[in-house]
Amino acid sequence: MAESPRSVLVVDDEADIRSLLSDLLTEAGYVVRKAKTGAEALESVAKDLPDLVMMDVKLPDQDGIGVLRQLKREHPDLEVIVMTAFGGSSTAIKAMGHGAYDYVTKPFEIDDLLATLKRVFEHADMSSEVSALRLELGKSAAERERIVGSSKPMLEVFKLIGKVAPSDATVLITGESGTGKELIAEALHRASRRNPHPLVKVSCAALPETLLETELFGHEKGSFTGAMTMRKGRFETANKGTIFLDEIGEMTLGTQTKLLRILQEREFERIGSNTPIKIDIRVITATNRNLSAEVESGKFREDLYYRLNVIHIHMPPLRERKEDIPFLVEHFLVKYRHAAGSIPTSISEEALTRLVDYDWPGNVRELENAIERAVVLSRGNPITLEHLPFGDRREAADRARMAGRRARLEGEADEADAEAVEAGSNGNGNGNGNGAGSFKERIATLERQLIKEALDRAEGNRTKAADELGIYRRLLYAKIKEYGLEE
Ligand SMILES: Nc1ncnc2c1ncn2[C@@H]1O[C@H](COP(=O)(O)OP(=O)(O)OP(=O)(O)O)[C@@H](O)[C@H]1O
Ligand SMILES: [Mg+2]
Repeated sequence: MAESPRSVLVVDDEADIRSLLSDLLTEAGYVVRKAKTGAEALESVAKDLPDLVMMDVKLPDQDGIGVLRQLKREHPDLEVIVMTAFGGSSTAIKAMGHGAYDYVTKPFEIDDLLATLKRVFEHADMSSEVSALRLELGKSAAERERIVGSSKPMLEVFKLIGKVAPSDATVLITGESGTGKELIAEALHRASRRNPHPLVKVSCAALPETLLETELFGHEKGSFTGAMTMRKGRFETANKGTIFLDEIGEMTLGTQTKLLRILQEREFERIGSNTPIKIDIRVITATNRNLSAEVESGKFREDLYYRLNVIHIHMPPLRERKEDIPFLVEHFLVKYRHAAGSIPTSISEEALTRLVDYDWPGNVRELENAIERAVVLSRGNPITLEHLPFGDRREAADRARMAGRRARLEGEADEADAEAVEAGSNGNGNGNGNGAGSFKERIATLERQLIKEALDRAEGNRTKAADELGIYRRLLYAKIKEYGLEE
């Protein structure tokens, strides 16, 4: 290639990371410069503008997001990739919101990293309209952190939120009941420039057609019997903000037609009026139905479907991201511990394992309810199996027997027993592990077990195991080493 090599500035306070990236990128043909702190990075960029900055968001001297903002303010076209520790969801959203091109999580998956870099440069070649991605972020970072998740599918969701929040594009959120669709709608609104204006939520399932329409569009005085006064509808209240139409799949065809018109013309009339009202609004919808199937069967307007589905965010069911469960458990323990009057609550390893094993048809909502209940029942003592709502004892015993039989069939009973002993050996050696070990230790035990099982199922094929676990291969390697799971 005749063109001059691209330059990358690597910003990280850890010497290991700097040299790892430097070696890697140099080998891949980039010219690499390094900086240890935010100040050094700004200075280096001021002196000689690189093509790309790869930056840790945790810097010793200042907040990486602050550095990112300053960089983007001074050089809107400069591409920045941020590096976050595995699991930093809100940082990822924030960084994307402040114009970072992408983010990578540590430990790195090298192929992904190089692919990301390639994409950045392809993108930079194609367009220079990057600076459009600027946005006013809401103040409350703590609130945003309420969306717990560090699994690969959730990180993808966060990334998408960061990317689409600044625009006015209509978003359709799908996913099973209890997966957090409403939470995502809130996050989108908060991270958008409409944040100072209202987020109005309407459930299309709660009301029959005519009531839903008056609710949405409002009515004039005397427009129907009982309409004593003029009433503004929810669209009007939401002006300049966002309207969240939940359970959109329940909307009747008649109302769908009216909604379509609002989306097309950005205006509507109150019921009983001929005066069009203009509105400036962003529409977010959600459903747990399969809308395209509803379109097929004629229950949902196809043209409306395409209008709503400009950006699609799908919330994966909890059983497909089990690695989020321990973090959600911790999150809800804290949440309900406060509700229960700050009684410290912990959870036994056995109970946590059961929570991870369970299938969660009701997703995060069901998990949240289970923890809330357990916090109340355990009254400040560590939560154990008996506080969990998993059917009656017989069913639990049946399940255990089935599991045992399966293990024996596979001729692994002894091995499995040995595992169980090992897993329980974190101090007190008794099977139910009442509050033994810190939360971290218990998660580690569980993590080791999940990884071991995934590796077994994948017959040692690490790529397959990583896929199944929804984690990067590189992370799996690190964990295999950490837990001594090498053959
Ligand atoms: N990732 C998450 N982190 C923290 N809390 C979550 C998460 N996902 C869901 N929750 C909590 O679970 C509950 C259900 O979430 P939400 O109401 O957003 O689900 P939903 O997908 O809208 O469900 P439905 O389709 O039944 O309306 C809420 O209390 C929410 O705060
Ligand atoms: Mg909902």
